[in-house]
Order: sequence, then structure tokens, then C-alpha cells
Amino acid sequence: MQVQDAFGSGGLSRRELICRGAALGVAGIAGRAWGQTFLNPRNLSPVVLSEKELSIDMVAMPRPVQILPGQPTNCWSYMGNLVKGGVGQLQPVQGSYLGPIIRARSGQQFTVRMGNQLGEDHITHWHGLDVPDDADGHPRFAYASGESRSYTFPILNRAGTYWYHPHPDMRTGPQVYQGLAGFFIVEDPEEQALPLPRGAFDVPLCIQDATFDTANQLVYTPDMMNGFFGSTVLVNGRPNFTLSAATRVYRLRLLNGCQSRALKLQFSDGTPMIVIGTDGGLVDQPRNYPYVILSPGERVELWVDLSQKTLGSLITLRSLAFTGGGTGQGAAFDVFRISIDRQRTETLQLPSNLSSITRYRLQDAVNAANPRSFPITMLMNPMAWLLNGGAFQMTTVAANEVVPADTLEVWRFTNPGGMMATLHPIHTHGRQFQILDRTISPAQQTNWQTVRDGYVDIGWKDTFMMMPGETVRILVRHSTYRGLFLYHCHNLVHEDMGMMRNFRIV
Ligand code: C2O
Ligand code: CU
Ligand code: CU
Repeated sequence: MQVQDAFGSGGLSRRELICRGAALGVAGIAGRAWGQTFLNPRNLSPVVLSEKELSIDMVAMPRPVQILPGQPTNCWSYMGNLVKGGVGQLQPVQGSYLGPIIRARSGQQFTVRMGNQLGEDHITHWHGLDVPDDADGHPRFAYASGESRSYTFPILNRAGTYWYHPHPDMRTGPQVYQGLAGFFIVEDPEEQALPLPRGAFDVPLCIQDATFDTANQLVYTPDMMNGFFGSTVLVNGRPNFTLSAATRVYRLRLLNGCQSRALKLQFSDGTPMIVIGTDGGLVDQPRNYPYVILSPGERVELWVDLSQKTLGSLITLRSLAFTGGGTGQGAAFDVFRISIDRQRTETLQLPSNLSSITRYRLQDAVNAANPRSFPITMLMNPMAWLLNGGAFQMTTVAANEVVPADTLEVWRFTNPGGMMATLHPIHTHGRQFQILDRTISPAQQTNWQTVRDGYVDIGWKDTFMMMPGETVRILVRHSTYRGLFLYHCHNLVHEDMGMMRNFRIV
């Protein structure tokens, strides 16, 4: 059966596996009360960030969650308890399979002990954060169920919306799909000094898609070529998500947590899509987009001004149609609604300057004349997407994948056009980068026009979408952390198939 194949392990059905995992989970955490503190309503008190250290105990484990009416869904969840840190640094997402929101401050020392009670190997990655190679969640560090692993690193990143999710070889897609993902929000004094919406008006929203069977269980039927496209949209783990809002300004932090589906986002009533942040935090100045492209792994922060809306009105954030992204991509659908149900007087005004970002210059890259070139290619028989001419092998690094630490380089990615062509969200671990430019092959112009105005290529990025026929150059100053890191397609089906490569910082 499909479900069993997709989730099977050692001949157990997915349900048996989950039950066995649950039993292990209970045995493994005897005497602990995971998530006990999560029974309280969402803690909206101001985050106290005076602590130098943030230390949490977490576990990835099976958990039944009420998603649809009727039977609960057997999900997998990150659960956590604060060991050391300020009030509000670990916030549950009520009624969701999503892991707690981790709120850290730049400069803090972060430590997490992560238990694995999944019944299969696991490793967690801190997407977007600049961390030492042994804390980055590389698949070579995957560990067995029943064991745990500690990660410790200083938060070097600036304020921004980062996230965490599993990264075991060939199992990232299924583990994320079962519910393992969470926000990792970093704050810093520069960002805190700005008049931006806070507390209940600063809302992280994770967008995903899933398919349920008649017993409300998750069905995962990935297609190697294009990926997985669910039939139900989930926002923070809920179907038909409606954000109850007041007539004021909101900061929405959107994360595309889908396996494969790229989004083309726009408000139904013409509310401007004002981008204030990207993957790596605030942009220099707010910028208005006709719509915003958000491919799997990417984040965008919006300034959403509801102050002039009519009480009682509903606004829909929808994903618009686009063409040429490959089978499964580009369908139009509603993502979530905002219900304006409270009157408030707004005093916040959109700041004209948000942060200062020094643009890298191509001529300052050590390889300006000779960019590292990483083509995407497709292998037939067996069908596979390749990056830099190869598929992932645990510790293999090609000669052109060895890069100098703390050095500015230009990297060039190309996505071929052609019959089977599909879009790919490309992600690199380590440092945030800047997008230098994009070019499109003449043959793919028409499709490209259906997405190009929504590319948010400003600010700091760690993931970007590439349409068929597109070439993208990025400028990246590599981390000072040496070792083995990953770059890959963030279509998780492609990633699990091997559309992922190591690079070594020396
Ligand atoms: Cu969010 Cu290596 O991935
Ligand atoms: Cu990552
Ligand atoms: Cu891909």
C-alpha cells in the first residue's frame, strides 16, 4: 500500500510504527511531562531576553492531534521544555502539530538536547542559522530512536524568521510531512527599537499542504519528478485557517513549509503586499509587491495594514495561478482568511528605513571572473534530479565544492528548460546570501512572466526559487565555521531523492 511504502520501516505499517513509537516515547520519557506548560493559553507576555543562555530540552515523538473533525491524526511533533532562559522563549502553537516557537536573541548561547522517539533515525537542522558543522543537522549525524543529541551554538544571526526541521538522508520529506517543523525567531536590539507590531500582532504563519484519508490520517504519495501536492491547505497545522484580527497593523511572518508547492501570494481585496523582511530578517526599506512568490523553505515578513478595514469584513490571502513550474505547480487556491472582528485605533506608521544592508558587489568576490557553477540536470533511468552533476552521497565533496572560509564568492545556478522541466527552490546552509541577478532563457520568457514580479530578491536570503530556463547568481560570504555543509533543493521530495550536495568550508 502507498501509505505503508511511504512511511514503512522494517515491515511495520505506518500505524504500527506510530503505536510502537508512542510506546517507546512513553517509556523513554517516564517521569517527564513534555509540553505540560503548553496547556496554558498562548503566552503573549513580552519576551524577556535578558538571559545570556537559552537552553531547552526537546523530543521528536508521535502525537495524536485533532486536525479534522472526528478521529485525531497520528502526527509527529517536536515537544519542548525550557531549561534555562527568559519567559516566553519557548511558545507553543496551540492545537497544532508544529513544534514550539523558539524565540532567541542574537548573541545568546543556545543549547538544545533533542530526544528521538520516532522509531527511525532523526537529526534536526536549524534552517537559516550560521552554526558549526556538528550542530547543523547534517544527515551523517542522524541518530537512532531512543537516543538523543545535543546541539549548542551561539546565535550569530541577526533578527529574523528562521525555522527548524528534520534532515535525515532520504527521510526529511516524510518527517516534515508528519508534523516535524517549528519557527525559530531571532530578535536583536536594532529590530526591537523599531515601531513594528509586537506580541499578538506579530504572527508567525506556517503554510503547508497535506492529504488525509477517510480515517483522517496523513497520506504521502510523492512523485519523484514533481514532488508532493496535498489537497488540504494547513496554516499552523489547521485547515480553513482564519486569523481573527483587529483594525490595526500586523506583522505576518510567512513560512512556506510545503513539501513541494510554491506559492504566489496576494490579498483578495488588494491590500498591499508590503515586504519588510526576507529569510534573513528585515530588509533595508519596505517594498510593495503586486504578489509575492514563496517557494518551499522561504520566509517573508509582511506589514499588513488593516486599520482602514470595515469591521466584520473578511480578507483572503490566496495563491494565484502561474504557469511552467511543472506538473502540480501553479494551481490557484485560498490559503487563509483574516476576519476583522475588533475595532482598535492604530498609531504605528510604516518606518521608511528598517535596517541597513550593505550590498555585496560582484567585483569584490574572489571568483568574480569565474563563478562556481552548479547546474541542475535530470538523469533518466532511474529518474533523478542532480545538482552539480551528481546525487547526494553522505560525505562526498567534489573539487568545485571546496570553498574558503569567510570569503565572498559568486555562485551560479542554472535550471534547464525542456519537456520535464520544473521549478526548484534552492537552499544553502551556512551564511545568508544576497541574490545578484537572474536571467531567463528566451524560450521560457512567457512562463517566467507569470512569477517574476513576485520574486523578493532583496535583503538576506537562504532559499530562492528557480523557474525552468532560469540562471541565478548569488553572492555569499562563507561562514567562519569550517567543515561539511549542504546545499540542496528544498522540494523535499527532490532532496530525499538526492538533489543535495555537500560543500566543504576550509
Ligand atoms: Cu531547510 Cu537543508 O534545509
Ligand atoms: Cu537549511
Ligand atoms: Cu528540486
